[in-house]
Amino acid sequence: MLRTSLDSLPASRIREVANAALGRDDIVKFWFGEGDLPTPEFIRAAAKQALDAGETFYNHNLGIAELRQAIADYASKLHGVRIESDRIAVTSAGVNALSLIAQALFDPGDRVAIVTPVWPNLTSIPRIMGAEVVRVPLACRDGVWSLDLQKLIDAAAPGTRAVLVNSPNNPTGWTMPQADWEALLAHCRRHGIWLVSDDAYERLVYTGAPHAPGVLARIEDGERFISANTFSKSWTMTGWRLGWLIAPSRFVADFGKLVEFNTSCAPPFVQRAGIVAIRDGDPLIRDTVARLKRSRDLLVQRLRALPGVEAAAPPGAMYLFFRIPGRSDDSLAFAKDLVTRSGLGLAPGIAFGAEGEGYLRWCFAATEALIEQGVERLARHLR
Ligand SMILES: Cc1ncc(COP(=O)(O)O)c(C=O)c1O
Repeated sequence: MLRTSLDSLPASRIREVANAALGRDDIVKFWFGEGDLPTPEFIRAAAKQALDAGETFYNHNLGIAELRQAIADYASKLHGVRIESDRIAVTSAGVNALSLIAQALFDPGDRVAIVTPVWPNLTSIPRIMGAEVVRVPLACRDGVWSLDLQKLIDAAAPGTRAVLVNSPNNPTGWTMPQADWEALLAHCRRHGIWLVSDDAYERLVYTGAPHAPGVLARIEDGERFISANTFSKSWTMTGWRLGWLIAPSRFVADFGKLVEFNTSCAPPFVQRAGIVAIRDGDPLIRDTVARLKRSRDLLVQRLRALPGVEAAAPPGAMYLFFRIPGRSDDSLAFAKDLVTRSGLGLAPGIAFGAEGEGYLRWCFAATEALIEQGVERLARHLR
């Protein structure tokens, strides 16, 4: 027998839909959380150069010193606060950062409050460690997602080990307002609760701000706060598997131990690419956000023109989480039918938890032409 915590882990419902269309090359796909563009040349060139220079060996558990410094400089500048490199651990992308955090924080039975619906890895990873996940659902009105902060505070009662917030949120795009972050931080400080911020989409905001609201700038070294981050989304590097976490410096050596037992290190040539990306990538991020915003606006406008579709432009991330009451209520069945009969690949809302049932997630990191084609297929399917 395998461990009991594995039995209750759901298999990926997105994969289930994708499998329904396995082997077909006529599908227009928006189901996975990644864009359609390859990583830019200036980042790829740095990796090639490192490979040619023979950087193919094991390296430090916590990452190459230059990358840790580059991440510290980047985060300091972005958030307007000094963050030293001794608070940084380089990880094998965001999902690995989240696994390391869960391994560091959770004993079996520990309680963790998480805002949902959410990318399923965020709730499954603590459960692998035996933690008890308390889900705090967002509410949706006319396509706009919001959090009743008091519900999150109540769920994070004294004795709770951690609160985990992903903002901007996958799949809804919900972005926690600054005032809520401040109130949550105050609550966590008061009760000695760890606050874990999944910042995968912090740069993907459509308000013109350089980053989403958050409390990294308020945190003193040593406080119970960890940020998990990734090169995947903002630098279009999903396949590279590179990320980082920012933790209290006195625990970073412990994270190094955990890295040793998980992956030992991130590949050195990938880290070299990361240095260039994070140092020189701001124009890329600006272009990416502008492109995403155009695609988002087009998608929302087109979908709202279809009968019965409830959708509103999300303030962040790269997904539209929308529904068609009376049609998409069983999101898994609808998504499977949609892909097999009409060749349109969307993620079923149920993949993100019971709160997501009835919804569909559309990743709009795609060309406007592809989005038009997708909307046309949905329109035909609904007819
Ligand atoms: C909310 C959230 N956090 C973290 C990640 C991690 O991505 P990666 O492991 O590619 O860095 C994702 C990817 O979809 C995500 O949606």
